[in-house]
Amino acid sequence: MNFDQVHSRLNTSSVKWDKMEALFGVSAKEGGIPLWVADMDFKGPEVVKDALHEAVDRGIWGYTVPSDDYKPAIIDWMAKRHQWKVEPDWILNANGIVHALYGLVQCFTKPGDSVIVQTPVYHKFLSAVTDNGRQLAANPLVKNDGVYEMDFDQLVTLAGPKTTMMILCSPHNPGGRVWSKAELERVAAFCLANDILLICDEIHHDLVYGPNKHTVLGSLSAELEEKIISCTAASKTFNLAGGMTGNVIIRNQRMRDQFSQQQARNGMVLCNMFGPIMSEAAYRGGEEWLDALVPYLMANRDLVDRTLNQIPGVKTMSLQSTYLAWIDLSELGKPFADIVSAVQGDAKLALNLGPAFGAAGADHLRLNFACPRPVLEEALGRLERTLRSLQS
Ligand SMILES: Cc1ncc(COP(=O)(O)O)c(C=O)c1O
Repeated sequence: MNFDQVHSRLNTSSVKWDKMEALFGVSAKEGGIPLWVADMDFKGPEVVKDALHEAVDRGIWGYTVPSDDYKPAIIDWMAKRHQWKVEPDWILNANGIVHALYGLVQCFTKPGDSVIVQTPVYHKFLSAVTDNGRQLAANPLVKNDGVYEMDFDQLVTLAGPKTTMMILCSPHNPGGRVWSKAELERVAAFCLANDILLICDEIHHDLVYGPNKHTVLGSLSAELEEKIISCTAASKTFNLAGGMTGNVIIRNQRMRDQFSQQQARNGMVLCNMFGPIMSEAAYRGGEEWLDALVPYLMANRDLVDRTLNQIPGVKTMSLQSTYLAWIDLSELGKPFADIVSAVQGDAKLALNLGPAFGAAGADHLRLNFACPRPVLEEALGRLERTLRSLQS
């Protein structure tokens, strides 16, 4: 495991690298560095490669269902790493969590219903709602002491007959908050009291920085677990996003049947052959790799904070989880469009633009630091020079 090693991903059909120029006007051939979409520029665990080789070498790649060993691998991982007891029947396979979120919105809400999201939030939460003709009910997070907190006073104002779902990001992207047990209990109590189905996306749950500890929403109580839906995947944890595989975990049988029917209506009956193979291998044999990765990411996080927070007017959020730094530029005293233009044009860096995560993301950039340290050092050097030059 050498996370410092730089690998070229150019011309590998990588969204991050090969779509950068079209989306951000930043050319990798001219030295541009992609620090946007949430995958990592590290090689994943060797065990995943071995499992894929085995599947490739079979030479026949017909229609596939997940193997009988797939669910036990998930169950053992959740028990060992998250002290969460999941039964095999509860696990439904999905072509990734975005796909699952779209299906969940279609299944459990009606056109015109409102869905609560806590902005700024992963932008697909927003499009899963609006693309399906539902309304967004934003519960903007508030900054307190350098981290996001939930605004419970505003949250209660969003309840109503048409508010039928809330999609929670736990840990939160962007901003990296690891929600406390008390916060989760309060959100859950609000949803239960107002007949709002709570969907909890826990895809970032393995990338948590000590001393913070992730709490699985479903593990709070069996009664609650009967009423919520959880989404997990091995993709963020082990850098397997190309496998397009995730899990929707539903304890309640009626809701599980309903979602299975929705999946069938969306043509999702079988699965990609390689995704579950990758996830199973990673859950079974990737723990050592992950335990080396997290401290590496933590050191990258600290480097980002050290470098950027010394620039007047720039403030990174104190990340408790995820490899996605959240940079507040509102005090820089420059129009956001000028900042973006300088970051892309002069520094040749592609970072996600905050407003994509909802209005609450105004004047922010999101920087993916899951890359080899030498690349990060180069990128931060350029970013620092560019942001400082804007001030002069
Ligand atoms: C909170 C959250 N959910 C889901 C996804 C994407 O999931 P998938 O690749 O399984 O569709 C991301 C990717 O960044 C994310 O941050």
